[in-house]
Amino acid sequence: MPLAAWIYDLGERIFRGKISQERAELLAFLGNTNHKKLLEAGAGTCRFSAFLKRCFPYTEVYATDISREYLARGAKKADIETVLCPTEELIQRFPSSVFDIVLMVDALHHHADRIRALLNVFAVLKPGGMLVMREVDRDAPGFLKYKLIDKIDLLLSALQGLKYRAPEYFNTSELQTLLRLIGFCHVEVKPLGRDALILCKAVKPLPS
Ligand SMILES: C[S@@+](CC[C@H](N)C(=O)[O-])C[C@H]1O[C@@H](n2cnc3c(N)ncnc32)[C@H](O)[C@@H]1O
Repeated sequence: MPLAAWIYDLGERIFRGKISQERAELLAFLGNTNHKKLLEAGAGTCRFSAFLKRCFPYTEVYATDISREYLARGAKKADIETVLCPTEELIQRFPSSVFDIVLMVDALHHHADRIRALLNVFAVLKPGGMLVMREVDRDAPGFLKYKLIDKIDLLLSALQGLKYRAPEYFNTSELQTLLRLIGFCHVEVKPLGRDALILCKAVKPLPS
């Protein structure tokens, strides 16, 4: 049995109330995605992308990750296209400027090269397209909890034979600066007020 993916989704069953709240928050931040082309990068078992597809069935949803096992489980949850691909290499797998929305939930801090990952996200977004991320601010109260959560990740990586690397976190100001340097505009960060979580929106500018 693909144990790591099963364990990952066990959290969803145990913390059902919390997950519903998180989905509602994300939905409110994203808005209606019908008739948009959306990519969830670092989608894991697609708990958010599959939920979005069920809420807004006219969304064309793609999900990428480096875990074959997570994506295989995610593909069974909804009509979404799963693609095994590191975010750092999106531009080699997708044409440039194709997505209206790129979503990253609790994912950026797990990437081996966070800057290259964001540059790739920028490249595959359409002008006027939007990056929506949920991240963790390492300077916000509640951050230390993530040091514990990291240990679960160590186990899940080992079970899949994936190389584990300790997550690295930006603080809000670093993330805003980096997104602007990459070329995003309308960068907006909103603390969720718990667990050091932040929601972040950034737009790829239209040509002038
Ligand atoms: C904490 S999980 C979050 C998964 C999902 N977004 C969610 O909210 O359930 C982090 C995910 O990032 C993925 N990941 C790590 N490095 C990656 C990379 N370079 N490219 C794409 N995904 C990556 C992991 O495999 C894992 O599925």
